[in-house]
Amino acid sequence: MHLTLRQLRVFESVARNLSYTRAAEELHLSQPAVSMQIKQLEENLGLPLFEQLGKKVFLTEAGTEMYHYSRTVDQQLNEAEAVLEDLKGLRRGRLVIAVASTANYFVPRLFAEFNKRHEGLSLSLDVTNRAGLISHLDANDTDMVIMGLPPAGKELDAEAFLHNPLVIIAASDHPLVSQSSIPMKSLRKETFIMREQGSGTRISMQRVFKDRGLELRADMEMSSNEAIKQAVEAGLGLGIVSLHTLQLELAAGCLAVLDVQDFPVMRHWYMVNHKSKRLSPVARAFREFVLAEADSLIQSPLAVGSTL
Ligand code: PGA
Repeated sequence: MHLTLRQLRVFESVARNLSYTRAAEELHLSQPAVSMQIKQLEENLGLPLFEQLGKKVFLTEAGTEMYHYSRTVDQQLNEAEAVLEDLKGLRRGRLVIAVASTANYFVPRLFAEFNKRHEGLSLSLDVTNRAGLISHLDANDTDMVIMGLPPAGKELDAEAFLHNPLVIIAASDHPLVSQSSIPMKSLRKETFIMREQGSGTRISMQRVFKDRGLELRADMEMSSNEAIKQAVEAGLGLGIVSLHTLQLELAAGCLAVLDVQDFPVMRHWYMVNHKSKRLSPVARAFREFVLAEADSLIQSPLAVGSTL
């Protein structure tokens, strides 16, 4: 069946009005133009759609069938237009974000604030480590990724939007808690509980130690910040985590941030996309919102009373 949307629209108008003249007025066309479109449509379909008795226009059986379908097509197109308008106006939309497990300590707060301003949006959040985030970027299956260590060698846009201070933590009764300005070298003999392979926190810390000619042994490995904090609190060793993960523990006084020279190591959080990614309206709005407001919305745990 070869027919054009224009023919269908002209047909729908003539069939609804049962008048070529009224259809021409409605569509701002001349009457011969309307007749021509209908004639071509009838030729394409191989059946007459109208019959004219005197001045009266009637739908044929084929015309009646066609009218039913043309109205459905019209309704669907109107609906599509309304949905696209809603998307443009951020009245609906779905945001698919993947975030580093460490960033999950503040991203829900950002989304909650964004959601207050644009009700009706939905969110899908995958929380994974850096290695998982790189897989998301390769699969192009999220609107954006929030990570602390964007990979090199890929065509990415990575914009820093928030500080990410890394600190060394100990149980609050650890002997090092009372010391100040502890040299990194003197931590050589301490047991460190490290994040798993593939974690951005772990890679960053290894670099910091290596740059100072020190080896950071992974005596114990755990795959979440929560597990590390529990282990440190239980006295298994020292931990290295982002300050963003410590809000509750510092407030409760069950963990302490050690005063180690060169710490906190100041890193950043980045919003990351492929350079050629075409962001949806809601993703673009979220990106702009985070870049503009994350700094003021996310309170630094330092303000809550760490020992730094
Ligand atoms: P992660 O965090 O350690 O949870 O992968 C990312 C990062 O801090 O780079």
